[in-house]
Amino acid sequence: MAYTVPKLKDFSQAALDKAVDQAESALKDESAEIRSEADWKAFRDRWMARKNGVLTQINDLWLKSAPKEGKRAVGQRVNELKQFVEQEVSKAREFVDGAATALRAGSEQIDITLPGIRRRLGAEHQVIKTMNEIVSVFRNLGYSVEEGPEIDTDYYNFEALNFPPNHPARDTQDTLFVAGQESKPLRDRLLLRTHTSPVQIRTMEKMKPPVRVVCPGKVHRNDAPDATHSPIFHQIEGLAVDTNITLCDLKGTLDHAMKALFGSEVKTRFFPSFFPFTEPSADVSISCIFCGGKGYRDGSRCPNCKASGWIELLGCGMVDPNVYGFVDYDPKKVSGFAFGMGVERIAILKYGVDDIQLFFQGDVRFLEQFG
Ligand code: PHE
Repeated sequence: MAYTVPKLKDFSQAALDKAVDQAESALKDESAEIRSEADWKAFRDRWMARKNGVLTQINDLWLKSAPKEGKRAVGQRVNELKQFVEQEVSKAREFVDGAATALRAGSEQIDITLPGIRRRLGAEHQVIKTMNEIVSVFRNLGYSVEEGPEIDTDYYNFEALNFPPNHPARDTQDTLFVAGQESKPLRDRLLLRTHTSPVQIRTMEKMKPPVRVVCPGKVHRNDAPDATHSPIFHQIEGLAVDTNITLCDLKGTLDHAMKALFGSEVKTRFFPSFFPFTEPSADVSISCIFCGGKGYRDGSRCPNCKASGWIELLGCGMVDPNVYGFVDYDPKKVSGFAFGMGVERIAILKYGVDDIQLFFQGDVRFLEQFG
């Protein structure tokens, strides 16, 4: 039977005790029945609703009808009862919340006997793979690897490489400068390196000849992306400085490297060029690997070399004596050569890729072909 609030006629201590006991045990019984949030809400409203809740009824039936001299005692008991009801209602709430959490945790339990989720093995990206291949060709010749920062100063990217301030050769580099550097002297201003050549300077600052290093890394240029341009790409720099190093050594080294990378039938051609930090300078071409250097394939013009039989691949030259002045080398005693090649350009040729953007779009259908 559900509890109903009795009218009180007897306001003695004993009668009050009995009425309060009855109410409290009804409260506990009803609380013990609560199973859900909806149960709890009904319970709370039944006991605490302002309009017609049990407490309100008790207030009306007991307190208001108490004789004047007993009001104080009744009021105190009703207040205690009210506190008790509030306590029970909030305890019941905690119980409901706890049960819900336990239920949720139960449904999320992990079955450790199920087979695991296999992660597919990745493959080396073609750009990194090509970079490693090039590096290993030079490692086999006794070169070691040096690296430098991608954000460098105007001094390392230009000045120490014999690009004087305002020299037009700087324009060929499409440089991205870090903003807000105007208050600094030009040589200290930061930029995204446009080539790996600054690592030549950093290497010579910390090493005395003989030097034989390759410097792979990322470089940046303000170029709009298209099939043959990307604002971020990779280069490998080479530097050899020693006594009696000649152009002949440069030609032999690069001819060997190109044969190691593209096959022993490949020929190289050196064509005069200009870089501020090498003198003389040359661009190196390899005989076209698609038409065997003939310029024609299956009776038609070879599109890869535009029928020239040659593909231009890298820049190089003998280190300009002015550069030695920046690093405390004596140009009367030492000589050397440097070269720089674009990694994506070589990867494109090696893998027959027709758009440099494919390397950077991260489409697994492209990348998987080379796994
Ligand atoms: N740093 C030059 C460039 O990116 C390439 C180069 C390197 C030329 C070393 C000569 C010697 O254009």
